[in-house]
Amino acid sequence: HHYENILLERPADGVGQITLNRPKALNALSTPLFKELNDALQKLDEDPSVRAILIAGSERAFAAGADIKEMKDLTFSKAYSSNFIQPWSTTITNLNKPTIAAVSGYALGGGCELAMMADIMYCTADAKFGQPEIKLGVIPGAGGSQRLTRAVGKSKAMEIILTGKTFSGKEAEIWGLASRTFTGFDELMKGATDTAITIASYSMLAIKAAKEVVNQSQELALSEGVKYERRVFHALFGSQDQKIGMDAFANKKTDIKWTN
Ligand code: HXC
Repeated sequence: HHYENILLERPADGVGQITLNRPKALNALSTPLFKELNDALQKLDEDPSVRAILIAGSERAFAAGADIKEMKDLTFSKAYSSNFIQPWSTTITNLNKPTIAAVSGYALGGGCELAMMADIMYCTADAKFGQPEIKLGVIPGAGGSQRLTRAVGKSKAMEIILTGKTFSGKEAEIWGLASRTFTGFDELMKGATDTAITIASYSMLAIKAAKEVVNQSQELALSEGVKYERRVFHALFGSQDQKIGMDAFANKKTDIKWTN
């Protein structure tokens, strides 16, 4: 397969990386780009040699948003009948394998929303996040109003979405939107790759279960979520990897070979 808007790489064993690559448009998320992104995500998810997925942009831009030039003549009837934007979030939020977004430079509008769809977000301290849709006469359309509000709370989300003002990577980290910041692009990519390598070293069955229960916390009430977690925890005692992991601890073995 040949992609025109993204690069597909293997920065380390077990790690697949997708790099958004439309430099002339600051990685604006056009329909062709998103089709390629979804195709590559699906392929990495199905590839047994991949255990964690990185999504990155360039140093200057993770993504400056949905492609405004492509959207500007869209009509209500076309948007509604094609369920515009809906395919953006279905693939990435339904992957089995964990995703890490590595954000440097601009992450605006759909770019910020894409980064928020990843399981883990890392960024540079001076990354520029924002939901500037209000300046275009619209609102976030790829989950921004929901995911941002869950991450930073109502007042901050309102402020960001109603003013369209950007916020920094440092602020994203302090507010809990990003879990870590780095001083520069190379440090960011190394940090994201190292975390992917760590995740890739564990049982993929346990990793899938862990990702699933954390994601449920965003959907369920607390008592339902705790019960859901416990049921999945119980289920893992039916796995070979639970026997392998606990036996290795009890017998002081260091070289663990997971079956999944
Ligand atoms: C299409 C874009 C683009 C975008 C940048 N470009 N962002 N094209 N859609 N979202 C293009 C510019 O038109 C320009 O192309 C080239 O990229 C370089 O951008 P410049 O503006 O010249 O760069 P600079 O002056 O450094 O400014 C950078 C910027 C600015 C601050 C990021 O480009 C900007 O404000 N972009 C729009 C950000 C935005 O509003 N995003 C939200 C989109 S709405 P040419 O051909 O002129 O060189 C959205 C809705 C999501 O995302 C809801 C559903 C997903």
